[in-house]
Amino acid sequence: MEKKPLLEVRNLKKFFDKTKGLFAREKKYLHAVDDISFTIYEGETFGLVGESGCGKSTTGRTIVKLYEPTDGQIIFDGVDLASIPEKDMLPYRRKIQMIFQDPYASLNARMTVTDIIAEGIVTHKLFKDHDDPEKAIQERIYELLESVGLKKEHASRYPHEFSGGQRQRIGIARALAVNPKLIICDEPISALDVSIQAQVVNMLEDFQDDFGLTYLFIAHDLSMVKYISDRIGVMYLGKLMEVATSDVLYDRPLHPYTKALLSSIPLPDPEHEDKGKRIVLQGDVPSPINPKDRCRFATRCNYSKILVKNDDDDFRDKIVGKFARETVIDHDQHRAVVEENKYITEEIADGIIEFGVKELYINRAKCFSKEPELKEYEKEHFVACHFTEEIDKGTLE
Ligand SMILES: Nc1ncnc2c1ncn2[C@@H]1O[C@H](COP(=O)(O)OP(=O)(O)OP(=O)(O)O)[C@@H](O)[C@H]1O
Ligand code: SF4
Ligand SMILES: [Mg+2]
Repeated sequence: MEKKPLLEVRNLKKFFDKTKGLFAREKKYLHAVDDISFTIYEGETFGLVGESGCGKSTTGRTIVKLYEPTDGQIIFDGVDLASIPEKDMLPYRRKIQMIFQDPYASLNARMTVTDIIAEGIVTHKLFKDHDDPEKAIQERIYELLESVGLKKEHASRYPHEFSGGQRQRIGIARALAVNPKLIICDEPISALDVSIQAQVVNMLEDFQDDFGLTYLFIAHDLSMVKYISDRIGVMYLGKLMEVATSDVLYDRPLHPYTKALLSSIPLPDPEHEDKGKRIVLQGDVPSPINPKDRCRFATRCNYSKILVKNDDDDFRDKIVGKFARETVIDHDQHRAVVEENKYITEEIADGIIEFGVKELYINRAKCFSKEPELKEYEKEHFVACHFTEEIDKGTLE
């Protein structure tokens, strides 16, 4: 069956101005979302994962224009939401709903459950043609409460009278109330007890089948999205690093960051034991403010360094003009022979050789000088790395 795109995000950017002071020489922009593109097809669940601060929530919030996009297109049902004025957004504010991580903060504490759920129904005038809209709305609210596993008598209560799981059910009922097409679920289960998480996920899946919903499901760890997602996008510092179907992403991750993320998931399944070699992520996460033109993952990537050995005659030639990946300390003299990320001049190279360094990691130049684009490496498997093919074939020197 032909898949129909419901949401096409094209080169989306969202920068936050972090310039301090009126007379600052240079503008400082935090690149929370930096040129990302992906498509979500009708009826599917697209998972978005990545560590804290990588821009997942900003992506979700920009899609619904809670944040004004800095650049790019958000094509929903054929219409570019990024280019339409706020006054024309109302119908899309109904069609795209959000469910949040913290169901307490996202529910108005002073409103009853009925008022919370009715708000969208009233704003979008969904029952305006009914003879008795008030009664029809109340009936609809009872029906919604029942469908999320709550009871009629809960309708007159306030959010603080419920448990976390129940509050999330109210959040889901509120989203469903306006018959949306797309629901952006921003870590909807992260704050819930493990026993409740499965119930909420199952419920979301049932609603997807019953109402033909499409989900953008945000989570910070891969184990959470695997079960629910058809396809997954992996984000790192405002960029999409890899996009593939869930199965392919788990069985054949190609991006070094995805490999690292997956290797840190404990795998209780004995079948996977040999896969369980953990790749420990080292190195600093660079600042998302005015990022450099290089691979965002370069400072932590296991493949972005080259080991040069001192038993070759051309050791000196191989290190001069490169950047050191590690710091070498002369403890006797209390000084650094070379520092991490330092440009190796002829003089520093001589110092390294004199100190008797046997081998040295240097930075792989391309990783540190050019940003890789997200490219389709295999059908429907997109990867943003300069060396995907070499890493895949194991030929990277
Ligand atoms: N309203 C804002 N103003 C300024 N900076 C912001 C704003 N919202 C987010 N940021 C910054 O943008 C970056 C991305 O944040 P975002 O909340 O999108 O990350 P996230 O992936 O959702 O993280 P988490 O897993 O912690 O929820 C962070 O560096 C954050 O500090
Ligand atoms: S481009 Fe370089 S640093 Fe980036 S993921 Fe690929 S190998 Fe690693
Ligand atoms: Mg978030």
